Amino acid sequence: MYTVPKRKSYSAAALDKAVEKLLAALKQEAAAAKNEADWKTFRDRWMARKNGVLTQINDLWLKAAPKDAKREVGQRVNSLKTKVEWQVENTQQEISQLGTLDKLVGPDEATFRKDVEQARRNRQSEAALDITLPGIPRPLGAEHPVIKTVHEIVSVFRNLGYSVQEGPVIETDYYNFEALNFPPNHPARDTQDTLFIARQEAKPQRERLLLRTHTSPVQIRTMEKMRPPVRIVIPGMVHRNDPPDASHSPMFHQIEGLAVDTNITFCDLKGTLDHAMKALFGSSVKTSFRPSFFPFTEPSAEMLVSCFICGGSGKRGSEPCRPCKQTGWIEILGCGMVDPNVYGFVNYDPKKVSGFAFGMGADRIAILKYGVDDIQLFFNGDVRFLEQFG
Ligand code: DAH
Repeated sequence: MYTVPKRKSYSAAALDKAVEKLLAALKQEAAAAKNEADWKTFRDRWMARKNGVLTQINDLWLKAAPKDAKREVGQRVNSLKTKVEWQVENTQQEISQLGTLDKLVGPDEATFRKDVEQARRNRQSEAALDITLPGIPRPLGAEHPVIKTVHEIVSVFRNLGYSVQEGPVIETDYYNFEALNFPPNHPARDTQDTLFIARQEAKPQRERLLLRTHTSPVQIRTMEKMRPPVRIVIPGMVHRNDPPDASHSPMFHQIEGLAVDTNITFCDLKGTLDHAMKALFGSSVKTSFRPSFFPFTEPSAEMLVSCFICGGSGKRGSEPCRPCKQTGWIEILGCGMVDPNVYGFVNYDPKKVSGFAFGMGADRIAILKYGVDDIQLFFNGDVRFLEQFG
């Protein structure tokens, strides 16, 4: 193991050679440290006040130096000090990264190991950098267009007195389906193209984990902990087993709404949503409701807004309007009056309370708002696309 030699010569060349030897030993010992305990030994050997290598070079090289050599030696000792401190810190970082690595399994491990290696090389070249150079300016980010749309929609409802609730993306069968009145094996579950978490078969069905297919489970989670009146919006990420294409993504975003109180009627639903659409798309849009089906609402509807791109005419000049497929209407959300069965799952009395719910796709709304022709553009991280929204 390296020991600090006494200085015989204080010539610049001899000093440089000694520094080189010491640094080689430093590197070698750093590389040999493989865990937290090794690292502590390494740190103490080099940095301990009493008899650490740094202390020794201070005593054996600097203090012992003749007056006229002090300057030369002093500069080198200072620079060694910085390098040793840097190496000790850097080695600790590497070890803690490798600690994370031990917890990883599978093909990611090789990639991760490479990244750690690269990061180490980067840090080593950084250490050789002139720190008096100006820094690298980081480009300012901007709100992602989907998140921006989510915030706009949420704020329309906040202005109506709604509050915001969130829930887990990995959900149980119970919250995603059962408590929303999708009984086990009910065919309505098939409409949801669910991505299930593997190896859940040993659990009772309602405890099995899946990626939530909608934000509706947060209705249940909220009603479980809150008595009526409830007025909430629920923004969040959802997943479905849809292969990606221009209009589908296995991951997308929804905004859910729920209002439960005494004497809430379908008129409240229509009035609220009509107001929200005017706030979002402009005061001249109209809304229209068509009957539909969802297990957790009765009656259920889908709501359309008059096309805010062609003004409802179905045409843009002499061209057909694509977003509304020339119909003048765009389907924007599902909604309905909360099914009394749902109240049964959360201990609300269906004889005393009533309410409405709705759910919409935020990505689709962002596509329409910004005239984007491919949903994938939102998620593949090309800054040239994202910069346009900055
Ligand atoms: N959860 C439904 C879906 O993703 C959307 C929805 C429809 C939500 C009607 C609601 C609602 O709250 O009342 O397909």
